[in-house]
Amino acid sequence: MTLPRLFSGMQPSADALHAGNFIGALQPWVALQDGHDAVYCVVDLHAITVPQDPATLRARTRATAAQYIAAGIDPARSILFVQSQVPAHAELAWVLNSITGFGEAGRMTQFKDKSAKQGSDSASVGLFTYPILMAADILLYGTELVPVGDDQKQHVELTRDLANRFNSRFGETFVVPEPFITKETARIYDLQNPESKMSKSAESEAGIIWLLDEPSKTAKKIRSAVTDTGREIRFDRGEKAGVSNLLTILSAFSGDSVPVLEERYVGRGYGDLKKDVAEAVVETFTPVRERTLELLADPAELDRVLSANADRASEIAEKTLATVYDRVGF
Ligand code: ADP
Ligand code: NA
Repeated sequence: MTLPRLFSGMQPSADALHAGNFIGALQPWVALQDGHDAVYCVVDLHAITVPQDPATLRARTRATAAQYIAAGIDPARSILFVQSQVPAHAELAWVLNSITGFGEAGRMTQFKDKSAKQGSDSASVGLFTYPILMAADILLYGTELVPVGDDQKQHVELTRDLANRFNSRFGETFVVPEPFITKETARIYDLQNPESKMSKSAESEAGIIWLLDEPSKTAKKIRSAVTDTGREIRFDRGEKAGVSNLLTILSAFSGDSVPVLEERYVGRGYGDLKKDVAEAVVETFTPVRERTLELLADPAELDRVLSANADRASEIAEKTLATVYDRVGF
């Protein structure tokens, strides 16, 4: 029996993953190992599209992989590897670059957002072609399903367009993937700025719940979360963004629905809510954090696992690339 192939990845662009990455990506990825043939990647080639420090990147790549494993991604079952260890990603990206229209790439809204932050002169061409590398990541593995958040849907659309274009020009080669929306995964917002999503690239980390922070630091950040001058604990993103975010986080970490929580907190204060959010987050994160630190304490063993998994990935990717090279006339 063959299970549907699923591919996803995250950039090693911070020292740790945050609560949004955990709820929006890592936790669903762990569950999706059942019933799918999953490939999970640490996309370090993507991480150099913005300025980076080499030693930091190397440490973050290991730490990201360790957090995947600690959260429950099983490298004996799913393929869990580091993108730069499989050269076929860069090689296929070049071929796909050559069939992508300049205007088509220019319509990617994430590039527009990210380059606007950096200024168009300092934004790299790599950042511009980032979605094409992402298409290569997906297409190398015969991926059927790509679990993505809203912000990446446009990139999966581009991937589909490129796969179809290549197939019609050069003959059936690629599986055309579908974006995969599991159940509505919660979007977590910044604790200090609850209008913006929690993000590794936020200007301040005061509002970010990091998976690898000390429990006391996490609890303190949650106690300091922005709320409002009212007293009522109810979900209302427009009027009560901070409180709504705390309810969302508690719901995601406890499994209780938001309406059930609203009921529970009738007549109670924001302090109670924050205390419970902190407890739920710390309870979930502590074992994952401890396991991550154990894995990072033995880098040779972690590197061995990643290298063995890169070999498994290469075996699939090289086959696809060989077909592509043959089709284009190499
Ligand atoms: P970041 O903005 O922190 O760099 P990424 O863009 O690398 O995060 O996202 C990696 C994964 O984590 C994606 O699948 C994305 O959907 C998920 N994710 C990121 N931030 C959040 C968030 N605040 N809430 C829910 N999911 C998130
Ligand atoms: Na990002």
